[in-house]
Amino acid sequence: MVDLIVKKRNGLELNKEELTSIIDGFISGEIPDYQISALLMAIYFKGMNSMETAILTDLMMRSGDLIDLSAIEGIKVDKHSTGGVGDKTTLVLAPLVAAAGVPVAKMSGRGLGHTGGTLDKMESISGLSVNMTKDQFIDNVKSHNIAVCGQNANLVPADKKLYALRDVSGTVNNISLIASSIMSKKLACGADAIVIDLKVGHGAFMKTLKDAEELAQVMINIGANMNREVIAVITSMSEPLGYTIGNALEVKEAIDTLKGNGPEDLTELCLELGGHMLVLGKVAENHEQAVLKLKELISSGKAFDKFKEFVSAQGGDVNSIEHTEELPTTEHKRIYYSKEEGFLSDLNALDVGLASVKLGAGRETKDSAIDFGAGIRLLKKIGDFVENGDPLAELYSNDESSFNKAEELLNLAYKFTEKKPLEKPLILKTVR
Ligand code: URA
Repeated sequence: MVDLIVKKRNGLELNKEELTSIIDGFISGEIPDYQISALLMAIYFKGMNSMETAILTDLMMRSGDLIDLSAIEGIKVDKHSTGGVGDKTTLVLAPLVAAAGVPVAKMSGRGLGHTGGTLDKMESISGLSVNMTKDQFIDNVKSHNIAVCGQNANLVPADKKLYALRDVSGTVNNISLIASSIMSKKLACGADAIVIDLKVGHGAFMKTLKDAEELAQVMINIGANMNREVIAVITSMSEPLGYTIGNALEVKEAIDTLKGNGPEDLTELCLELGGHMLVLGKVAENHEQAVLKLKELISSGKAFDKFKEFVSAQGGDVNSIEHTEELPTTEHKRIYYSKEEGFLSDLNALDVGLASVKLGAGRETKDSAIDFGAGIRLLKKIGDFVENGDPLAELYSNDESSFNKAEELLNLAYKFTEKKPLEKPLILKTVR
């Protein structure tokens, strides 16, 4: 192992045999964490070429169970977001795309730190379960064209162990390591094609368009190596997506979007990503036609009907999504007011995400409990003019003492300018 660390430290390529012995030794516990950490740091500085990255992805993917979706007819297209604040895209896209005829067999994650997770959002619907056996999962997709569940504990265990080490050794932010981590999980979940929503900006792993383009290309190359088509849509995460951050609040906003009354940015993103999913799933000839089809499913009510069918199939209370005032709420509400006048020029997604965690909407540690009703409803977004004393956001919590801490974080999030800031596009680039 020392020789391999030195080899990488000197910028040389690790071959298949060497990478295999590293991953095997790491999983079995033969190679101690300190040597893997040293190797990760060497990779961080010297990088890995596309062959090394493809081999690492394949080894990680095979480190645990592989989900076989071949019993489900049709092209299974998965979508992955690299993580954001207020990102309720899956709640909209999954039923929307399923209604269009693309089978959705989706494994999602939980929220940690400043980002939320689809499973937590779904569980804010009373009775809804995200725990199901492999057979139930496949049966639900066969019967309803949609199922969303939690990840099996033995899915890509190598990534779980490696990510935990990266997290405490300052080696998360390396393009090869991020690409292999994401792609190993997507490939193990059995997708035939993958659409990646690659976020750039505050609160995202990638801070610049250039880095995001590089990450996109590495993921596309990994997919090509394994005969899977990958499309990466690079999107801005400089402010939260939509107006709500927090589980039940986001479910409400997703429902509004499925009914055609959602915020512009969320709607635009869902149509863009959904359009690619329909083309990859071969239910539309091109992106334009796909977007028209998705819009029609929204306006006819079929997209929302599919959402209701999906909620019901997973045991959720359909009444609460027809009458969203029945979704969880909180005992306390506070309005957050502006102390300045001007155009809102910055609304830092990371700070807003952290403020929502303080209110109880997220987890500070893996085992913290979530308060489903808690969160933030933004009243202004970047570009809006604000008078001193105008309400900027509504804060919801069951713990009154959390409001001051959340406000301290929000004070950092908002910046104002005299001149209206230039409008920045949400969709920055599509890489395929
Ligand atoms: N998401 C992942 O799953 N892995 C990473 O390394 C970064 C983001």
